[in-house]
Amino acid sequence: MRKKIVAGNWKMNNTLQETENLLNELISKKPTESNAKIVVAPTFVNLQTAVTKTAGTGIIVCAQNAHQAENGAFTGEVSVGMLKSIGVQTVILGHSERRAYFGETNAILAQKVDTALKHNFTVIFCFGEELSDRESGNHFSLVESQIKEGLFHLAELDWKNIVLAYEPVWAIGTGITASSDQAQEMHAFIRTLLRTNVGNKIAEETSILYGGSVKPDNAVEIFSKPDVDGGLIGGAALKADDFIAIVNAMR
Ligand code: G3P
Repeated sequence: MRKKIVAGNWKMNNTLQETENLLNELISKKPTESNAKIVVAPTFVNLQTAVTKTAGTGIIVCAQNAHQAENGAFTGEVSVGMLKSIGVQTVILGHSERRAYFGETNAILAQKVDTALKHNFTVIFCFGEELSDRESGNHFSLVESQIKEGLFHLAELDWKNIVLAYEPVWAIGTGITASSDQAQEMHAFIRTLLRTNVGNKIAEETSILYGGSVKPDNAVEIFSKPDVDGGLIGGAALKADDFIAIVNAMR
């Protein structure tokens, strides 16, 4: 049975106080029983507070990035080992904003994935096409290259720590959500890509999340699709009621 996950990527938002306030609200409003694992990804400076506040609640704290090196002269960067030392064991890698604004290539991301897996992290690996790719009919080949170049070097056992997140760039932060059929079409393509290249077990057991303007009013429809195993939520994750509504949308 694939893990169902609703993860909130807070991006560069929330001071320490705002983090504490949002977490208090999420902890008080989260359902006692949920069909989805709940993940929150604050910024680096608020991770330790998040780990402390969520202890015992079942909410998983996730980093938004990590460097591929164990340590060294990389001013401003944070390593996987440092994240592990404060109790974080999950990390988002390859978000489109990292790829676009910070030059993270598939090759760099493959190195980041290796370092994270070496420390037994769960990796939420992001990928997705630009609107121009889709309009020119290149979205499947683009997504295939991102997954192959980022992940297909992994050993079979590594895949138990991989969660995939399909985020069409044109749907991120735009309010233009992919239709549930568009999401299902791409997720089914990805599952077939896994089945063909890395085997049926990995294809069936790997969770594939959808991200890109998921809101309370579209989450039920998107999550109802057979190859959608949850969501990676941006803007709506910053409002407790909306994020909890999306968690509750997982049937
Ligand atoms: O990582 C999730 C994020 O990229 C989606 O953002 O605001 O479209 O939900 P948003």
